[in-house]
Amino acid sequence: MRVAIITLSDSGYAGQRTDESGPVIREMMEQAGYTVVHTALLPDGIEPLAGELRRLCDDDLADLILTTGGTGFSPTDLTPEATLAVTERAAPGIAEAMRWQSLQITPRAMLSRAAAGIRKGTLIVNLPGSPKAVRECLQFLLSSLGHGLEILRGTAGNCAR
Ligand code: MTE
Repeated sequence: MRVAIITLSDSGYAGQRTDESGPVIREMMEQAGYTVVHTALLPDGIEPLAGELRRLCDDDLADLILTTGGTGFSPTDLTPEATLAVTERAAPGIAEAMRWQSLQITPRAMLSRAAAGIRKGTLIVNLPGSPKAVRECLQFLLSSLGHGLEILRGTAGNCAR
């Protein structure tokens, strides 16, 4: 499965901060057998991310897009809004599960507004911004992501009925 990784950070985009979370995602996804086909570092805001998501989905360049950052309460945190603006079908269970799992670790998990959804044949999942949060969330999501992607891409039938 092909994965694209997008980091949202104004300070990272301005070169004032090193992106640590993108590389953590890359390492974990490669270890899980995914192929990283694209990485990007974008400024916060709706249009840069929405445009990149549309391009990757509409040209079928990735099966999965993982974003990191911009899910909190700062006025510039607009990752969920960009995601929901481009997705055609919501996948709320992924964000719900991520928050449920994360709440076992920190009550601050309730402050992530992360969303997930599908555009054409691509699943988009928002992860929080810190490398710690990325590790915690991804570790948990990996257990079911592959199955969902196989159904989305038509390489596995639906679950037993
Ligand atoms: N989820 C996990 N698993 N671990 C964490 O440390 N941090 C929280 C939350 N989710 C955290 C987490 C905090 S402190 C914030 S403010 C929100 O994610 C939003 O983060 P973001 O704005 O970097 O996306």
